[in-house]
Amino acid sequence: MNIATHPFDALMDITARPPAVFVRGEGSFLWDDSGKRYLDFMQGWAVNCLGHSPPVVADALAAQAKLLLTPSPAFYNAPSLTLARALTDHSCFDRVFFANSGAEANEGAIKLARRYGALHRHGAYEIITFNGAFHGRTLATMSASGKKAFEPLFEPKVPGFPKARLNDLASVKQLINDRTVAVMLEPIQGEAGVWPATDQFLRELRDLTTTHGLLLIVDEIQTGMGRTGKLFHYEHAGIEPDIMTLGKGIGGGVPLAALLATEAASCFQHGDQGGTFNGNPLMCAAGLAVLRAVAAPTFLKSVADAGLYLETELQRMSARHGLGAVRGRGLLLALDLKHPIGASIVAHAFDDGVLLNAPQPDALRFMPALNVSREQIAQMIDCLDAILTRMGAARRVA
Ligand SMILES: Cc1ncc(COP(=O)(O)O)c(C=O)c1O
Repeated sequence: MNIATHPFDALMDITARPPAVFVRGEGSFLWDDSGKRYLDFMQGWAVNCLGHSPPVVADALAAQAKLLLTPSPAFYNAPSLTLARALTDHSCFDRVFFANSGAEANEGAIKLARRYGALHRHGAYEIITFNGAFHGRTLATMSASGKKAFEPLFEPKVPGFPKARLNDLASVKQLINDRTVAVMLEPIQGEAGVWPATDQFLRELRDLTTTHGLLLIVDEIQTGMGRTGKLFHYEHAGIEPDIMTLGKGIGGGVPLAALLATEAASCFQHGDQGGTFNGNPLMCAAGLAVLRAVAAPTFLKSVADAGLYLETELQRMSARHGLGAVRGRGLLLALDLKHPIGASIVAHAFDDGVLLNAPQPDALRFMPALNVSREQIAQMIDCLDAILTRMGAARRVA
């Protein structure tokens, strides 16, 4: 590894990173600058839904780059119009605002709900969110998040985000008052360690919010774009939310996100929302290529099948090593390790050329490319199996 040649200290030191510099990616594989190859089951935290540098995205970017990068957000451009229509055609929503990151899309959803409260609910502004939730790293989205580690940071927080408990309808009911305008949740809490809202809970939330005239906002930044075997997770529960945010997978590796709303909830007025790069044709051309691939007839079935295979293999391995349950859906799964050995497994896997993620000390999260092959899943399982055997042997010796 040629790390001595890289000027590491010019970047702000915001997180611990392994000493490797990645230079190339293709499908499920990444290469560092020493030529070492890694099998990637993180995929940029569920971003590269078609794997690294998929040809359809690279081609769309190259073609669009030669045509038009940005006319100005003050003007229409063809890729953003086409992508917006494709998203509304494939969902229960009528209107789309494009953003550059998931946090920005969620910030937009929060503003949209507050605008709705101002127009239709006598200035109501509170949005009920959930313990364990992760909605991003802007000040408002950190405030909306229910992540313990965020609690002491960057005080004072943005007010108006009372927290309920996931899958506990009574805890939501208790928080509803005249100031409430919306309920916002991730259908599967990803950062918290892949904790799903049950389909039943999602249906109950839809009924409850409808009864009280509240908006239901789903943050599908991690679960959307085919990740769980449906194009959008809310489809599993058979509900129609009022607002949805997308990020990560929608750009297939480039910074694109979206805020979608029904006509009734789409109440921004001129001047409320915007941004220099929002809906720029380059990113939207990539988004269109991704959506066409993911929404193709057999693709989502193949995601569901690969998810079942990965789940079964993880369950078998868990039984072999006395670990816990596998949770999640499609290709967003977590393995309960029962012990705080996640970071250690991730480090061993990195050395062995497999990229894994431990969102919590006692859980591993799996979010491979949606077109990951069975052979690649089997290869990752073999690697994990070997690491767990070594670690088990070491524990027994100690
Ligand atoms: C559910 C969810 N919402 C929001 C975000 C924030 O997205 P971004 O990092 O693109 O701002 C994430 C990122 O992990 C996420 O998983």
